[in-house]
Amino acid sequence: MDSIKVRGGNRLSGTIEISGAKNAVLTLLPCALLTDEPVCFENLPRLADVDSFMHLLNQHGASTMLEGGHNGGFGRKMTIKAERIASTVAPYDFVRKMRASVLVLGPLVARAGEATVSMPGGCAIGNRPVDLHLKALEALGAEIELAAGYVKAHAPDGGLRGGTIAFPFVSVGATENALMAAVLARGETVIENAAKEPEIVDLCNCLVAMGAEIENIGRATLVVHGKERLGGTTYRVMPDRIEAGSYACAAAITGGDLMLAGARGDDMRAVLAELRDAGAEVEETGEGIRVAADGALKPVNISTAPFPGFPTDMQAQFMSMLALAKGTSLLTETIFENRYMHVPELGRMGADIEVSGRSAVVKGVDELVGAQVMATDLRASMSLILAGLAAKGETHVLRVYHLDRGYERLEDKLGAVGADIERVSEG
Ligand code: UD1
Repeated sequence: MDSIKVRGGNRLSGTIEISGAKNAVLTLLPCALLTDEPVCFENLPRLADVDSFMHLLNQHGASTMLEGGHNGGFGRKMTIKAERIASTVAPYDFVRKMRASVLVLGPLVARAGEATVSMPGGCAIGNRPVDLHLKALEALGAEIELAAGYVKAHAPDGGLRGGTIAFPFVSVGATENALMAAVLARGETVIENAAKEPEIVDLCNCLVAMGAEIENIGRATLVVHGKERLGGTTYRVMPDRIEAGSYACAAAITGGDLMLAGARGDDMRAVLAELRDAGAEVEETGEGIRVAADGALKPVNISTAPFPGFPTDMQAQFMSMLALAKGTSLLTETIFENRYMHVPELGRMGADIEVSGRSAVVKGVDELVGAQVMATDLRASMSLILAGLAAKGETHVLRVYHLDRGYERLEDKLGAVGADIERVSEG
């Protein structure tokens, strides 16, 4: 299993190209199951999760063709053609490795009238149930059965019909499944308390490009007018706001100066505001977002929230940064329980962090010291890389496969702007 060694202390400077968004691509790829025409995705990031999703689509009978990306990943595109659905089963082996596999549920029931998808089960950042996904499909007339670890969903004769889906709280994934099912349901669907994340907007824009009719895109109440069929399209995946935010933290924690080329300020207002409050300089230009820092960072108090609030996917990276701020910060995680798995590892590097329930008190220290560390999820792994960039000596981050799921060519991108970083391949 690969690991990454970082020798800290280098000030990062230069330009990092931001890749296509992982969380957008994982909901865009299943859209291809909604039509028998080819759908092409441009700006496709080179990520382990994209490969896994491609194999899942193949398993459902879709053909996939990858092109480009010779320039280290940029310019990669994938054309998917699901002329017919050969299998409506998403087996445990896929869902176990990648929770987002559950996003085939909506499109399969809408197009093929049925789907059997393994229940994702627990994961490192909490329990993460799928009850809201299932309630959304039921509101469109699907019958749901749970058996032997699988969800079986059946559309009534004549297919799904429009309905009102009222979410009790915001769920990104459930909104995505609801949208992908509603676009082929008969009549009108109203989705109340829908997620407003930029990835949801990207999904809506792609569905519209395929012929769907969706009102209020980017708002809490979405109205979908179902269509009998959707067609193919070519769609460009949005830039990854979490990758951009992570590298913004890399600039801040190393007292560096990075241009995050292609990043969009509107997707990350809350993150940019907190970076400024922490003392970083943030400038939006036609090329992207420039983040620079000089000297000590200031403490900030942050609570995670659905968009446009501060994203839970940036909590771990900010924690590493604030571990070196001059003063005490308070972080509160409101989206996922158990999302502080990085805290003990940061502690081993000298950070002073105390967790109590959903809150973490981060007392800034003068320095972090490199150590051998390991994380159990993607963003937690990134927080350890960030800590390593600023720490004294060498940090050895084990189990890099989490990072490979969500950060395209991490060590190349950081190495090119001055980080002393290398991948150690074993076997
Ligand atoms: C997505 C993102 C993830 C991000 C999260 C919140 C992808 C592939 N993943 O995950 O990176 O951290 O949004 O922005 O896009 N919940 C239920 N029942 C459900 C569904 C969700 O109780 O049926 C709960 C979850 O346990 C969690 C909260 O709702 O506490 C929000 O989760 P949700 O927005 O659904 O996250 P994901 O879509 O899984």
